[in-house]
Amino acid sequence: MQYATITGWGKCVPPATLTNHDLATFIDTSDEWIKPRTGISQRHISHVNTSELASVAAKRALAAAGLEGSDIDLIILATASPDTLIPNIASTVQANIGASCGAFDINAACSGFLYGLGLASSQIKSGQSKKVLVIGAERLSFYLDWSRRETAVLFGDGAGAVVVEATDQPGGVLGYELNNDPAGRDILKAGFGTAMDRFNAASLDFYIEFNGQEIFKRAIAGMGKLSTKVLEKCGVDKEEVDWVIPHQANERIIDTLINRMKIPKEKAVVNIANYGNTSAATIPIAICDALEKGMIKPNQTILSCAFGAGLTSAAVLFKWGDRVTPINQSDAELPPCEQTGIELVAGAVKHFCG
Ligand code: UT7
Repeated sequence: MQYATITGWGKCVPPATLTNHDLATFIDTSDEWIKPRTGISQRHISHVNTSELASVAAKRALAAAGLEGSDIDLIILATASPDTLIPNIASTVQANIGASCGAFDINAACSGFLYGLGLASSQIKSGQSKKVLVIGAERLSFYLDWSRRETAVLFGDGAGAVVVEATDQPGGVLGYELNNDPAGRDILKAGFGTAMDRFNAASLDFYIEFNGQEIFKRAIAGMGKLSTKVLEKCGVDKEEVDWVIPHQANERIIDTLINRMKIPKEKAVVNIANYGNTSAATIPIAICDALEKGMIKPNQTILSCAFGAGLTSAAVLFKWGDRVTPINQSDAELPPCEQTGIELVAGAVKHFCG
């Protein structure tokens, strides 16, 4: 029997930050509103494309696993903000790491990384793949209308990656659940795609639809349901869970979820203050942060859950392996950024806010 275990991890967060105080210089908001309502203090704004963030995260994950790009036999990249739709950006990462394998993007919005992790484990358990790179990478600042405070304050850019390897040692991904609620399709939408009128400039200024309160409610219900289901399916008691690594959209969503599941708050990995919501990248970034802080110990049991536009939801239950330190460190870095977060968004702010 083959098991699918995470053996490498890496993140790439662009250096420029946009604080709540920075946002308050151009829209009617404040740190006093954002922080208690969401848990967010700052977000990172990228000076490079999504595939560059993804490639650096991937190189760091490979080094942590002690592998080369040529060892990888499948690349799954979760993103809703690729630099190009055709070709996919998993192929850019593939070229950058020197892999020879299948490579594809998936769009399950904020649940994308867990969809990818679930699929990777199935590939491995079926014997089809041995070493799969799963990446979550986003440049959501591209989509933002900086005049709309209800969405402008929530999102950020970043990437995280893991290597999932076939092993004989019991553990790794124990089970996963995926779901989608199409009744919620219209409450979270970035109207960017072939439905746009290419020959009408106004239509190219695509819209964002967002009903925060409705998403909030459905997020808790969706993540709670799938988390309970995956625990039951795997025969694991919630008391046996050492860490919950939830999607980071709002700290109040995490608090309510954990509370309802009767899991102590200390078991939740929460890092939203530094990054905001980086969609498909929140969970792999949180995995990296938890390891860097020494929170995750060998062989611990981790429950991860997410929700996103669609409305997608996912839950993955996995056991960490024996190793919580990287085998090697990568020297991969982004090109230097000379601009501040405010400078990077200045053009878009002028467009939307005048
Ligand atoms: O990963 C998927 C995407 N994530 C999400 O969709 C997150 C889910 N939703 C949420 O996190 C919360 O609903 C929000 C943080 C977005 C909003 O929190 P809320 O407690 O639901 O606020 P609200 O929408 O009910 O707005 C309350 C007030 C309104 O003013 P009035 O009508 O009471 O005068 C808003 O206009 O807060 C106002 N408001 C703001 N004020 C300052 C909304 N956004 C802001 C803002 N700064 N950024």
